Amino acid sequence: MTQVDVLLGLQWGDEGKGKIVDVLSPQYDLIARFQGGPNAGHTLEFDGKKFVLNTIPSGIFNEKTMNLIGNGVVIDPIILKRELDNLKAAGHDPVAKGKLVIARKAHLILPTHQLLDAANEQKMGKDKIGSTLKGIGPTYMDKTGRNGLRVGDTTLPDFKDRYNKLVEKHKEMLSHYNFEYDLTEREAAFFEAIEFLKSIPHVDSEHYVNGFLKEGKTVLAEGAQGTLLDVDFGSYPFVTSSNTTTAGACTGLGIAPNRIGHVYGIFKAYCTRVGGGPFPTELDNEVGENLRQVGHEFGATTGRARRCGWIDLPALKYAIMLNGVTELIMMKADVLDGFDTIYACTHYEHNGETIDYMPYDIITVKPTPVLKAIEGWKTDVTKVNKVAEIPAKLADYIAFLEKELAVPVKYLSVGPDRVQTLELN
Ligand code: GDP
Ligand code: IMO
Ligand code: MG
Repeated sequence: MTQVDVLLGLQWGDEGKGKIVDVLSPQYDLIARFQGGPNAGHTLEFDGKKFVLNTIPSGIFNEKTMNLIGNGVVIDPIILKRELDNLKAAGHDPVAKGKLVIARKAHLILPTHQLLDAANEQKMGKDKIGSTLKGIGPTYMDKTGRNGLRVGDTTLPDFKDRYNKLVEKHKEMLSHYNFEYDLTEREAAFFEAIEFLKSIPHVDSEHYVNGFLKEGKTVLAEGAQGTLLDVDFGSYPFVTSSNTTTAGACTGLGIAPNRIGHVYGIFKAYCTRVGGGPFPTELDNEVGENLRQVGHEFGATTGRARRCGWIDLPALKYAIMLNGVTELIMMKADVLDGFDTIYACTHYEHNGETIDYMPYDIITVKPTPVLKAIEGWKTDVTKVNKVAEIPAKLADYIAFLEKELAVPVKYLSVGPDRVQTLELN
């Protein structure tokens, strides 16, 4: 039996997962998304073209790779249809090519889930999570509350009745908010998209993935969001509603823990966060603005400006522990090209102590980062395509991180394009 490799974000999302899954996809027979939904925006660039995927796995551009949307994902049929329509218009039609299958146990995001998300965020005012407003929280609430609708339900003769029953409940909930809405247009689009959804093969992801393993085929599980947004271990309540960690790949696909192989942990050479919540190394100043402009740190899904800061080693160590990371992947090194000095947070000063972990009260008491200064490499690395050409000071930065984190860096990304990727060891 082969094993399932996992690739996931170690920070607060947007580490560059889409790019690297696309780069690695020729090595795999199957790429499988296991959690989250269209709150994700995974960007891929190649041959001068750029694509942003929300629900579809990032293996879709590789001719020989199959792609699975797993049972742990929540699916907005309207967004999925739009994604596939856009791909088709660009000359890529994974449905026609039989390269995409969906778990029938994946839950559906209804238009009213989105309304509930928006109504709730509006009510929270300045304390809001900063949700992507895609209906993620309310959909997972219905899943764990045992009210949800699943992809497989769409083929049942009484699907419409089940839908109406859930929508009635949502309308009752919405009546408690001071929130205006009109469902007519969205409902029409939803049912059109449901018909389309039926044209994509539905599978039992647990049997589907284990079948690949039994045949000795290779599988890569693609994470969405990042470890620090995990519903159990992230900076709760400023998190998403799924397990973004390796454990989520087991429940989100139906694979046993001992079937997990390599775990690729991906991180930026600095750090970003979009939405509310603690961010110890945040640079709310012109250095942060510089990182945002050079790194084009604006959300792939919502267009929101991402908050920027220095790399946070206590947070990375925590993420490595939770996920059992076996190899690291460092992204966006090129964004630091122009800096004379960069910084890495090695510890926090917190409640009068020096600590190297993320404290429980991080939500209420902001830790002060202890920063180590590191000399910048002051070289354009975007065209570096051989390990020997990596500037010495960037190699030193990587070696420093490997020592601190006790995990090797296997890949280095020096630009958004597929080809701007180096394998280090
Ligand atoms: P994901 O959600 O983890 O897939 O990441 P996003 O696509 O939301 O955000 C990553 C952004 O950085 C995208 O705009 C990518 O095109 C871009 N990107 C990825 N790798 C690199 C890199 O090494 N250098 C630069 N400058 N941009 C990169
Ligand atoms: P990818 O896969 C970055 C953030 C939102 C918000 C919080 C909860 O592209 O890395 P939700 O809509 O899930 O209820 O929002 O999580 N968030 C992300 N931030 N990248 C993402 O996905 C994100 N998905 C959700 O900004 O703070
Ligand atoms: Mg993203």
